[in-house]
Amino acid sequence: MKIVKSVSGMQEASRQARSEGKKIVLVPTMGFLHQGHKRLLDIGRHSGGLLVLSIFVNPTQFGPKEDLSSYPRDFDRDCAIAKSAGVDIIFAPEPEDVYPKGFDTFIEVAGLSNRLCGLSRPGHFRGVATVVLKLFNMVMPDKAIFGKKDYQQLAIIRKMAKDLDLSLEIIGVDTVREADGLAMSSRNSYLSTEERSEAKCIPESIEEAKKEFSKGVRQSSLIIEKVKKIIEKQPLAVIDYIKVCDKDSLEDLSIIEDSAQLFLAVKIGKARLIDNCLLAAE
Ligand code: PAF
Repeated sequence: MKIVKSVSGMQEASRQARSEGKKIVLVPTMGFLHQGHKRLLDIGRHSGGLLVLSIFVNPTQFGPKEDLSSYPRDFDRDCAIAKSAGVDIIFAPEPEDVYPKGFDTFIEVAGLSNRLCGLSRPGHFRGVATVVLKLFNMVMPDKAIFGKKDYQQLAIIRKMAKDLDLSLEIIGVDTVREADGLAMSSRNSYLSTEERSEAKCIPESIEEAKKEFSKGVRQSSLIIEKVKKIIEKQPLAVIDYIKVCDKDSLEDLSIIEDSAQLFLAVKIGKARLIDNCLLAAE
């Protein structure tokens, strides 16, 4: 396994792999790897070719009052996990190389970026889309793999790839969960024991929503009310949003016709936790 820090070094490695007829698969991350990332890497490993893991805590996707400086990092541990997952190259560029002095160009995916998390985190998806396009240009992958826990992020990246005619396949992978259902996230490490125990209200409320849907409830407000009640029982949980949306446009749905995507963002202590699920007939 190689560790590449420079952008030119990464581009060179990708050109070399391509000249040998290899496909390139990218798993972009901000590090502090967990089982969810491991699943992305396993899928990447099985798609063959050169497996590249990028680790870059992207400053442009954090708001001024967000957790950029305290975002969890453990490069040595990440390297060990990457090695055991069969990663060929860890690409870990420095912020000054990704955003050199005078950097001025940003990607804005209008519409999709201005809903859900985009409302509570202005500029977040502009930073995500910009860094992801830059990573695509640095690694030049044939495939890139993302988790569905960040459903809105995945939708935005797919839209960017379509709108800008990017020639690569974007693969979305189901959320990996802890034993009690909490979605894996690097930010779970912020939770104290008490907060962690309260956080299970999120997957519990999702199960309740699925139950309501399977009983035939199609009015979004009734499903949202049930979810809200479960979360509000936890004294430390502060709801940012609970929404039932069209799974493609991410626009609010008041009545569910065939299917919908339920989205939640809940703050517990320092951690802002997000989750989502599809509501659809089996
Ligand atoms: O999902 C993440 O970890 C990040 O948002 C990503 C896609 C690596 C961009 O910084």
